[in-house]
Amino acid sequence: MTATLAVLISGNGSNLQAIIDAIAGGRLDARIAVVVSNRKDAFGLIRAERAGIPTRYHPLKPYRDQGKGRCEYDGDLAALLAEFRPDWIVLAGWMHIFSNAFLDHFPHRVVNLHPALPGQFPGARAIEDALAAFHRGEIRETGVMVHLVPDERVDEGPVLATRTIPIRADDTLERLSTRIHAVEHVLLVETLQGLIKKVSNENTGEGD
Ligand code: GRF
Repeated sequence: MTATLAVLISGNGSNLQAIIDAIAGGRLDARIAVVVSNRKDAFGLIRAERAGIPTRYHPLKPYRDQGKGRCEYDGDLAALLAEFRPDWIVLAGWMHIFSNAFLDHFPHRVVNLHPALPGQFPGARAIEDALAAFHRGEIRETGVMVHLVPDERVDEGPVLATRTIPIRADDTLERLSTRIHAVEHVLLVETLQGLIKKVSNENTGEGD
C-alpha cells in the first residue's frame, strides 16, 4: 500500500529531494501529500513545487508577536497536517522541537533524521560538535540516525536505523558534511521504505 507522507523542512531540502527521487524511481512506496517549512526562503519549498507537491509555510514569529506560545503553534501545525491524513510525518531538517501539543496527534508516526549517532551530539550543530570532538581525540567516527520522536526530548527516541561514518584527519566541516548528507539520503529512504513495508505486512497479516 502506498503510504502518505508529510515532510517538514527548514532549509535546503536535500533529504526531501532524496525522498522525491526515490518515489519517482520506484524505490519508495509513498506519496508526499504536503511539504511544510517554517522558513519562507527554504530551498526545499522550491524543490517541492518543482515536483508538483503542495507546500505550506508555517512560521512561528506571528504566534510570538501575538503572545501565543509553542503549544498553539504546534496545535495549528498538527491540524494543518491532519487535513492531509499522513501515515508518517518526516522531519527532514526541521529545526523546531515539538511539544506534546503536536506529538500527541501522531503517536509513533513522527520520524526524525539526525546527523549523529544515538546519544551523541543532539541539536543543530551535531556535525560541528563531532568534528571538534574528533580534534580533541575523543571520537574517531560519527554517523547518522533515523528515529521515532515519542516526546519532547531533542534528537532522542526509538532508533530505527544508524550508519557509522569514519572521520578523516583531513576532514573539513564541508567535507564531513558532504559525506554525512550522502549517507542520510540513502538511510532515510531505506528506513522509510522499511517502515512502510512493515506496516503494510502487519495489515495484510504477512510475516505472522
Ligand atoms: C540534515 O543533516 C538532517 O539530518 C538535519 O538537518 C539537515 C537537513 O538537510 N536534521 P537538508 O535540508 O535535507 O539538506
